[in-house]
Amino acid sequence: MKRYEDLSPSLRCIMTPGPVEVDPRVLRAMSFPVLGQFDPEFTDIMNETMGMLRELFATNNKWAFPVDGTSRSGIEAVMVSLIAPGDRVLIPIYGRFGHLLHEIAERCGAEVYTIEKAWGSVFAPEEVISAIQSFKPDVVAIVHGETSTGRVQPLAEIGRACREQGALLIVDAVATIGGVPVETDAWMLDAVIGGTQKCLSIPSGMAPVTYNERAEAKLLKRKQVERGLRTGEFEAGELPPVRSNYFDLSMLQDYWSPQRLNHHTEMTSMLYALREGLRLVLEEGIQARHARHALHEEALTAGLTAMGLELYGDPQSKLTVVTCVQIPEGIDGESVRSMLLNRFGIEIASSFGPLKGQIWRIGTMGFSCRENNVLRVLGALEATLLRHGHPLPAGLGVQAALDVYEANVR
Ligand SMILES: Cc1ncc(COP(=O)(O)O)c(C=O)c1O
Repeated sequence: MKRYEDLSPSLRCIMTPGPVEVDPRVLRAMSFPVLGQFDPEFTDIMNETMGMLRELFATNNKWAFPVDGTSRSGIEAVMVSLIAPGDRVLIPIYGRFGHLLHEIAERCGAEVYTIEKAWGSVFAPEEVISAIQSFKPDVVAIVHGETSTGRVQPLAEIGRACREQGALLIVDAVATIGGVPVETDAWMLDAVIGGTQKCLSIPSGMAPVTYNERAEAKLLKRKQVERGLRTGEFEAGELPPVRSNYFDLSMLQDYWSPQRLNHHTEMTSMLYALREGLRLVLEEGIQARHARHALHEEALTAGLTAMGLELYGDPQSKLTVVTCVQIPEGIDGESVRSMLLNRFGIEIASSFGPLKGQIWRIGTMGFSCRENNVLRVLGALEATLLRHGHPLPAGLGVQAALDVYEANVR
């Protein structure tokens, strides 16, 4: 019989756009004893988590809770619940995850209209607004931070236009929440999905979402109570029910309300992780956290530039937490990545679709976003590129980053 060794994963320096390193305090929280999902001690933890999520999303929304599953589950729950078959949906696409929104909207049975921007840039708000005015969508779904291209889409004007036109605005803030500002109420975002495994530095496995009364009003028209839970007559809403049971927000919100109507079995240990991760965000301070991400991005980009490497994409729309680097001519990007991993224990990311083999993507997110990691990745990348025969001014990258840190000593 095969013998299996004790599980002993390597300690990595993870500088990708997610998943990233997890704060040991979050890992500790995951080892606490399991509570029953209706135990008042556990439901108190649920309520606290909702309160913390409201602060994180900068919202007064009643509804802010996690969907169990990876970030995509939050996206799918929001879209399948808010898009009724036949709805008109506008998706502005400027990278891989815009295409994901398109695909999910089609699977919801929507009439989908897309506009596209070349990868490496984002939309001017007027471009999206003019599409909203001519297409008159019921729903607009857009990515806030595109990890595939390292770009961030400004949302405030788009939010206002959606409100004026009566469209619901769904935002994928998976990569931005906890790392760059996401202003749910001020930007008039109707539903927002965050990610745990990126700037929040919690393992993958839950997707925090929030939505407002406009979104809830639509949900209530599709309201369902599972047959086996009904205690009397049930009157269905005026719109067709949500086509997914697991992702039906009208049922999930009943579980997250004082009613605690049974749905799935809550992921106790993941909720501990989420609560602890959120506690750490609030302890640091949301604005201080954004400033920390900006500082390490500045040091990283100064170092990369000093090494003579070229950054990818329009600098005006650069996403603080993801830095995309052109792979120099003649260099095998995958060979560099594997040397970084195998010799230095550092992981950086490759890229997708049209950018495959063209760029590396370096994340500075959450617990991974710290000085020693930035210096480590710069030093190791310098050494690895030299080893691959790429001529560069040795040592300048780390020195440039150190200059940034020394200029920012508080
Ligand atoms: C912007 C964005 N949206 C959605 C996703 C999907 O998240 P998950 O892989 O956790 O389902 C990702 C993951 O990388 C992402 O970067």
